[in-house]
Amino acid sequence: MNAAAIKSAYLAPEGLQETLIKGLDGVIAVHDRLVFSSQPPQDTCWAQNIWRNPQAHRINSISDAAKKLRAMQQNWCLYSYRLHRRAQLILEKLPAVKCAPLSFPSSVSPPPLGSFTLLDENTLLASAECSSRFPNGEVHFVEDKVGPPNRAYLKLYEALTLAAAAPRPGDFCIDAGGSPGGWAWVIHRCGAEVLSIDRAPLASSVAELRGVSFQKRDAFTLLPAEFQAQGRRVDWLFADVICYPEKLYQWITKWVAAGICANFICTIKFKGEPDRATVAKFSAIADSRVLHLFHNKNELTWFKLNSPVA
Ligand SMILES: C[S@@+](CC[C@H](N)C(=O)[O-])C[C@H]1O[C@@H](n2cnc3c(N)ncnc32)[C@H](O)[C@@H]1O
Repeated sequence: MNAAAIKSAYLAPEGLQETLIKGLDGVIAVHDRLVFSSQPPQDTCWAQNIWRNPQAHRINSISDAAKKLRAMQQNWCLYSYRLHRRAQLILEKLPAVKCAPLSFPSSVSPPPLGSFTLLDENTLLASAECSSRFPNGEVHFVEDKVGPPNRAYLKLYEALTLAAAAPRPGDFCIDAGGSPGGWAWVIHRCGAEVLSIDRAPLASSVAELRGVSFQKRDAFTLLPAEFQAQGRRVDWLFADVICYPEKLYQWITKWVAAGICANFICTIKFKGEPDRATVAKFSAIADSRVLHLFHNKNELTWFKLNSPVA
């Protein structure tokens, strides 16, 4: 492979290489989870990290590689698929990057982070510009093994951290598909009021929290008219419902059209192959974006933040 032909690179989430590759143009090589393309950076939602300007550099030693990287910028992370020891020795010669788990909520805005790998013993591929400021797109948090009823809270920690926004005291939130209550627990921690909707009950430890209420019903019967009639605004609509993406899309567009909700964070879940047509429809909703979070499995997260409230 001609290293100069690499114009962009994509790190797939664990187990999702095929899903990533199917949506990319110009794939010229795949090394474990790292995919090289001969095309300029593409805005895929299936990459954990996108290397936007990868450049190949001839190196004659470990020190030479570290010197070349330092000349480009300060902070680097390594994704190595071969020559692991040599690559690691290069990394050790670079300024240490802080990667301690984050405490939620975190106001820390990590500095820009480049990524590098070794194509062969004497060729370094380095991208000073990457889509994620977390090493290889991995966002780790200090875990709470006592409070939340499941691990879903980590997904919302990550979504809110990337959004650099969170429900505030006084905010009213809807949490569709909220049981057993990991997300409701996070919203409560943020100090906001939350109405969880699910066919299954919340864990009692969450149901008992102040500011948490629950309705046992089909989330898709919850429509903006119910709130418009009471003159209520909704600050955040969260949805983590197991359903077909199209069903979620049909429901969410009613909420977007009503203009009474400021912020949305919803997971789009797939059974097997992703429904790319519906993902494209979500992406086309104004001022919104779709991402694959580190804590997402075979699902994506749709964000629409701070839309004007009617
Ligand atoms: C992945 S779990 C949600 C986990 C939750 N976010 C948490 O933090 O604990 C998906 C939930 O969707 C609920 N669900 C599926 N279809 C639903 C529907 N039509 N209406 C309401 N809830 C539904 C399931 O009962 C399940 O509790």
